[in-house]
Amino acid sequence: MPFTPVAKVEDIPVGERKRFDLGGKRITVFNIDGELLAILDTCPHKKTAPLVRGTLDGEGIKCPNHGYRFDLRTGVCNVGERWNTKVFEVKVENGEVLIGI
Ligand code: FES
Repeated sequence: MPFTPVAKVEDIPVGERKRFDLGGKRITVFNIDGELLAILDTCPHKKTAPLVRGTLDGEGIKCPNHGYRFDLRTGVCNVGERWNTKVFEVKVENGEVLIGI
């Protein structure tokens, strides 16, 4: 899986999030207690809502529109598997954040 550099580590401090356009997708990276987790930004429910504007719930993100929750590690939706979404591998090398896509 190719990894693409998207930012410096310091661009996404603990508790923050940042969205990137990558490979025709919008992907948001969350910094949860120092761990970087990436998820497809577009909510699969109506395919428009940006999860970057959602509310963090532990290691999940709640969509700003209807509140469906997506696990940031697995993409699993709490409402039903038909709404499960995609997560991406993230790694840090030489101070850079890379997303696998
Ligand atoms: S658009 Fe995200 S939960 Fe409805």
